[in-house]
Amino acid sequence: MAGKILVLGASGHVGRPLVKELLAKGEVVKAASRGGQPVEGAEGVAFDFAAPDFAAAFEGVDRAYVMLPGGYVNSKELLTPVIEAAAARQVKVVLQTALGVDADDSIPYRQVELALIASGVPYVILRPNWFTDNFLNFWKPGIDHTGAIAVPAGEGTSSFVDARDIAASAASALTTDRFDGQAFNLTGPAALGYAEAADILAQVIGKPVGYTPIDDDTFVGILTGVGIGEDYARFLATIFYPVREGWTAGVTDAVKTLTGREPRSVAQWATDNAEALKA
Ligand SMILES: NC(=O)c1ccc[n+]([C@@H]2O[C@H](COP(=O)([O-])OP(=O)(O)OC[C@H]3O[C@@H](n4cnc5c(N)ncnc54)[C@H](OP(=O)(O)O)[C@@H]3O)[C@@H](O)[C@H]2O)c1
Repeated sequence: MAGKILVLGASGHVGRPLVKELLAKGEVVKAASRGGQPVEGAEGVAFDFAAPDFAAAFEGVDRAYVMLPGGYVNSKELLTPVIEAAAARQVKVVLQTALGVDADDSIPYRQVELALIASGVPYVILRPNWFTDNFLNFWKPGIDHTGAIAVPAGEGTSSFVDARDIAASAASALTTDRFDGQAFNLTGPAALGYAEAADILAQVIGKPVGYTPIDDDTFVGILTGVGIGEDYARFLATIFYPVREGWTAGVTDAVKTLTGREPRSVAQWATDNAEALKA
């Protein structure tokens, strides 16, 4: 009988829908978070990147979804030990990094990917583009206070991807060996600028929503002003550079390949999240 699937960040934006998908497929899931509470009815296990108890987390596990929660910048330092722990136990790893990290082998996330590839265990790498869910999780406070999304994206467009589609892609990668040894750039169905996305949100919310392109320092000032750490705010600012350069505009068929379904559009996401967006 197959073993359990360990899901890191199990109560997070990707983790929670992933746990749901896996349970629906009849898998036994260990849902990891610092608190170790059950998620969607799956057994919880306490796991903290700051002091990881790998023996407890990996007990009974033969596959793992490995991701770094938002707010952390030291991906190599935090994820490499997880890869090593999985490899020592011959656990298959589906690793979530980010679109574009393979542009340069010196990028920390890329180094984690390379460590996984070299580890010898079966693996799948998922590199999502900007999450559509950020409009709720990151940008909604700004929309509520100023009526606009204020980010340093210039006129760049991005093929935003729905966290539910990342989760469904991850569930496929974890439950079949068909995709082993491959990396997938996960995108939504179309590239949109922030002004276009703002228009879509405005229709759903029923109030005007604007887009204000700002510079990095203004952006960092806004984020630190709402309690986000300076390091993470600076990191977020730097990753808008690829957006301005047009590098996040590509559309792939990776979600369809992995799940058999087309990815959800920003409009679909906004409709499905209308209540939370209006709240
Ligand atoms: N947002 C984007 O547009 C985007 C785009 C591409 C790639 N990514 C990548 O996706 C990742 C974020 O994914 P996400 O939004 O799904 O994550 P998330 O929602 O921020 O993850 C939160 C989860 O992680 C747990 N967690 C937080 N701190 C922890 C710690 N120290 N040890 C163990 N667990 C901890 C949380 O539970 P507890 O708080 O209870 O521990 C919760 O289950 C980022 O690393 C980013 O690089 C994001």
